[in-house]
Amino acid sequence: MCGIIGYLGDKNASKILIDGLKKLEYRGYDSAGIAVVANDGIKCLKSKGRVADLEKKLLEDPIEGSFGIGHTRWATHGIPSEINAHPHLDCKKQIAVVHNGIIENYNSLKDLLIKEGHKFVSETDTEVISHLIEKFYAGNLEEATIKALKLVEGTFGLAIISKFERKIVAARRGSPLVVGIGDSEKIIASDVVPILSHTKKVVYLKDNEMAIITDKDFRIESLDGKEVEKKVEEIKWDVGQIEKKGFKYFMLKEIFEQPEAIANTLRGRVKDGKIKLTVDFDANSIKRITILACGTSWHSALIGKYFIEKISGIPTEVDYASEFRYRDPIIRKDDLAVVISQSGETADTLAALREAKKFGAKTLGIINVVGSTIAREVDSGIYLHAGPEIGVASTKAFTCQITALLLLALSLAEKRGLRIEQDVVDELLSAPQKIKKILGSLEDIKKMAEKFKDSRDFLYLGRGLNFPVALEGALKLKEISYIHAEGYPAAEMKHGPIALIDENMPVLFIVPKDNTYEKIISNMEEVKARGGKIIAVVSEDDKKISKLTENIIKVPPCHQYLTPLINVIPLQLLAYYVADLKGINVDKPRNLAKSVTVE
Ligand code: G6P
Repeated sequence: MCGIIGYLGDKNASKILIDGLKKLEYRGYDSAGIAVVANDGIKCLKSKGRVADLEKKLLEDPIEGSFGIGHTRWATHGIPSEINAHPHLDCKKQIAVVHNGIIENYNSLKDLLIKEGHKFVSETDTEVISHLIEKFYAGNLEEATIKALKLVEGTFGLAIISKFERKIVAARRGSPLVVGIGDSEKIIASDVVPILSHTKKVVYLKDNEMAIITDKDFRIESLDGKEVEKKVEEIKWDVGQIEKKGFKYFMLKEIFEQPEAIANTLRGRVKDGKIKLTVDFDANSIKRITILACGTSWHSALIGKYFIEKISGIPTEVDYASEFRYRDPIIRKDDLAVVISQSGETADTLAALREAKKFGAKTLGIINVVGSTIAREVDSGIYLHAGPEIGVASTKAFTCQITALLLLALSLAEKRGLRIEQDVVDELLSAPQKIKKILGSLEDIKKMAEKFKDSRDFLYLGRGLNFPVALEGALKLKEISYIHAEGYPAAEMKHGPIALIDENMPVLFIVPKDNTYEKIISNMEEVKARGGKIIAVVSEDDKKISKLTENIIKVPPCHQYLTPLINVIPLQLLAYYVADLKGINVDKPRNLAKSVTVE
């Protein structure tokens, strides 16, 4: 949520800040702004809308200067507008601040500052920080920042500049920040994506740490002013991985990357039919597993529950991370909390992880972004190695999470001395090939998109392992095409959604050939009898479903455990093509953000 960038070096800062903001736009994009220290003080430029709008303004009104900060916003306090866009300045326009997070006590701080004579211009919580730093500033920006942050309750990732000192101060509590260390320049950002084109050497800030960046060097201190020793780390991703490579949108590129991404999740983890996962707990001592996640990751968690219970026999629960921490969960020392997060930064998931740790549970992360906060705080982890996911609607992270969860379930079973089905392992290795086959013939899916793009509502139905796939298909469609869509267990349809079915309602059925096949056919008959329009995702060798509908999408046959991996691909593509036909910017759907770092 919200993207932060800061640059200090020998080049034109405004251009670098704008380029960086473009790469961070997936974190939020209702307004953007930059502040650069020029010869005659801080020059600030802001715009409602996309970074491209800000760039146009900059072309008309260029800013010279070699250090500054920038921000792309996802509104929490105050409507998206130029005034509420960051950076926020103090009264004398000598200090500029960009912020990600929420200042919980901003109202009382604002009252106090107004009484002292400070004048506020925006509705944001952030503006209190620039005024607090102004209040305490006596020639040293980091000292003033420390004093200001002592009064602040809530979460922040902050980058701060002043016109008096050539430095950037950045501070973190709850919102990620990374410092990139180049030869003649330094960059600070919310994640590594905008840093990669400058340097691969980075330092990750932890909560309650502050970076002080100057031309000569950088220092990390704790927020109580103590020096902290930090290791400079090397990023493994390269710039090519964060470009569109000829695809119209990142989302489409990421859908097409799935065979390779899944192969990367599997790499080195299956050898001679055995699962090689290094985890930091004794599988035999685990009595119960709780999986915690949000959004798409929560859908993969539901599939994980099926895998773990069926394959390893360990009772498993799934919780929305945001619900878990507020419902006084019963967690014991012999529980394993599995947290799933693409970004590794989702605030609710991080808070749930900390809650589970408080009760002494062992923790395991299934994470994509290496070095992210959740990845650092779990006892052990499985990295997805899916590569950067930029499209707001998650695709390749989902299929890699399912792959990792299946590996985890198989590994737990092995460690507990259970015999695992060898054909599951073999089929898992063939999943990338099967997905490639679906990606090789898109005609049926495009036809469905054209036929149903003007529908107002959609129902997605599946059973068993494919019920969470129905949820995910519906989520993809509503996220990027703004068509109302609901996912339901097919058998539950008759307890409510059936009332919605008429000749205008497309109902998408996921119909794998498993033990629920005949039951799903009955559910399809029920829809047909009420005039509903059926779309069916079926196995290539299916003979019956074509009698019920002409709207068929075929997928390669596979082992039942593989069906979520295979069946979700056409649903991702259907949502993509519907949204594209409607002319929506698929990578930047309205109101959404890729990384949600507020609770
Ligand atoms: C946001 C994104 C979703 C994502 C969810 C959880 O809502 O738009 O695509 O599934 O956050 O993110 P995480 O990074 O924790 O998987």
